[in-house]
Amino acid sequence: MALAERIDADTRAVRHLTGLRERYGAGPVRIRLPGRQVTVVLSPDHVHRVLDGTPRPFSAATREKRAALAHFQPEGLLISSPAERAHRRTFNEAVLDTGSPVHRLAGPVGAVAEEEADALLAGVHRTGRLDWDAFGAAWWRVVRRVVLGEGAREDHALTDDLRRLRRRGNFSLLAPTSRRVRERFLGRLARYVEIGEPGSLAGLVASTPAHPDTVPHQQMPQWLFAFDAMSWAAYRALALLAMHPGDLRRARAELPLSPDLPYTRAALLESLRLWPTTPAILRDTTEETTWESGTLPAGASVLVFAPFFHRDATRLDEAHRFAPELWLRERTADDWPLVPFSAGPGMCPGRNLVLLTASVLLGRLVEQHDWELVRGGLARSRPLPGTLDPFRLRFCARRFAPVRSVAADVAAADGHPGRRAAGRPGWPTAG
Ligand code: HEM
Repeated sequence: MALAERIDADTRAVRHLTGLRERYGAGPVRIRLPGRQVTVVLSPDHVHRVLDGTPRPFSAATREKRAALAHFQPEGLLISSPAERAHRRTFNEAVLDTGSPVHRLAGPVGAVAEEEADALLAGVHRTGRLDWDAFGAAWWRVVRRVVLGEGAREDHALTDDLRRLRRRGNFSLLAPTSRRVRERFLGRLARYVEIGEPGSLAGLVASTPAHPDTVPHQQMPQWLFAFDAMSWAAYRALALLAMHPGDLRRARAELPLSPDLPYTRAALLESLRLWPTTPAILRDTTEETTWESGTLPAGASVLVFAPFFHRDATRLDEAHRFAPELWLRERTADDWPLVPFSAGPGMCPGRNLVLLTASVLLGRLVEQHDWELVRGGLARSRPLPGTLDPFRLRFCARRFAPVRSVAADVAAADGHPGRRAAGRPGWPTAG
């Protein structure tokens, strides 16, 4: 990441694709990468066509993903056949409450995020600073508790196994699968489902009806590693808020009022737009497809490179600035494609849950603290970089005495007691 930041890798990639569009128009364009050909999508219409056409004729279970993810979730949704995908997707959506901005476990999930944020803040008060190691460790505690239950808070062995398997996954077919570690890891997950702790996703997995071929516990590795992506995004969002005190105050002002924290969510979505954690959305064609520029055979690899659209300054005025307002209204298919969570039938089913979890944690961090970014690749005097290494970011925090916020005044005027005073009104409890 440090090297990618130094050479501003994503800006270079976007520049290259802009050159292709100037030369070849709307595309798509086939380019040769070492060892294979990839067809790059260059127009918004084609983004929608590809993502809406999942899983046929554009399959999400691409060769790369099958090779990488089989190391730890051979029966996972993302690499399933179209027939398996239908019932595995239904199962994932049922547990993750995909359609609901506030998950039914928002009560326990919010409590976990707040507790871990408080523990993190206690460390910040002791050391006077926040760095990646502390933030990343706190986030993994949240993830283990939310996904697996209280008993998993310190189960570092499980996440260490996942890390080992992911490392092998990064080498795809070049690294042999470690069956021993995979079985140990998946066996441990199955055990958490047996325990089925109420208030955790494991509890919901245990109680949600599943098709015989769904293999419920094998849907969970994706949840664990995908939650990890949000640690980068949330930490970068803290940096954005530290650099934009007006936005930080707006995020703070909504705290006692809104269960779904829309401004904080918008800040997280901005972090993901500016620095997508899944920059390359890949599809393999399942049949021949016809385009204005020619015909693609079945088995072609198609790439939607999210930063190319997210950072297109020729089409998006906000391309290189922090603009939470982009996310404060419902986005439609006619809008410019912003796809940090993909779109269409393969869109991330954990989107709302992960945004909720991270916005509660972030909200707690900014509630009574002002933050200063003291190290990292952002500076007020420079435009936002194309690549931002989260691991180098370091902060100092200043606690201020709680003052009556505008939001608290509004709440009082409405006779609304505020979130904490009333045991989180609007926050559903487990069960
Ligand atoms: C910052 C956090 C996250 C981001 C940016 C993100 C983004 C994405 C993207 C772009 C995809 C589509 C991948 C593709 O088509 O190749 C995806 C799929 C998926 N995500 Fe997430 N995700 C996040 C967190 C989560 C979480 C926390 C969960 C579960 C708790 C989750 C569950 C899934 C699943 C199950 C799929 C596969 C969907 C399918 O194939 O139909 N994600 N995610």
